[in-house]
Amino acid sequence: MSETQPFVSNLQEIRRRAREHLEEGALTENYEGDVATTLKLLNDALATEIVCVLRYTSNSIAAVGIHSEAVKDEFAEHAREEQEHALRLAERINQLGGHANFNPEGLMERSSSQFVEGQTLVDMIRENLVAERIAIETYRDLVRFFAERDPTTRRLLEDILAKEEEHANDMHDLLVAHQGRPMLNN
Ligand SMILES: [Fe+2]
Ligand SMILES: [Fe+2]
Repeated sequence: MSETQPFVSNLQEIRRRAREHLEEGALTENYEGDVATTLKLLNDALATEIVCVLRYTSNSIAAVGIHSEAVKDEFAEHAREEQEHALRLAERINQLGGHANFNPEGLMERSSSQFVEGQTLVDMIRENLVAERIAIETYRDLVRFFAERDPTTRRLLEDILAKEEEHANDMHDLLVAHQGRPMLNN
């Protein structure tokens, strides 16, 4: 039985390490990202998504006017999708052993998008388009940052980025439909 000994002890070592690292969840020793930085970036993205959920939800309730029904529906759909992004980011933070920060305190400091409600339908659409453009820039930067450091996080962010591009496109189309041409200062 002695020839199996190295294998057995190796297996025991693997089990021991697996137990030891159980609390670290999906975090393995070959994780190449700096975990603290990853968690900070993901929590900032989570804050951005929460602000987007709040803004779109507020808009979906507040939108009024003769052409508002379709726009309300679009806002509500975006709110649901931003919430899905928030949940996926929170799950990833959790997987990496972090704490997903849903605390409203400091939310605006962590978020890269703003909460501007807009007074008219066109204002709302324009503010959302601005917010989506900021989100797209932020996610592009994050995708570049994670690159090969953490491919799982990168893929999640790429997925969200694709959705934000759709959102920006939706807002752009609505702006054109309601205003004739996009009027953006930034
Ligand atoms: Fe989003
Ligand atoms: Fe979005």
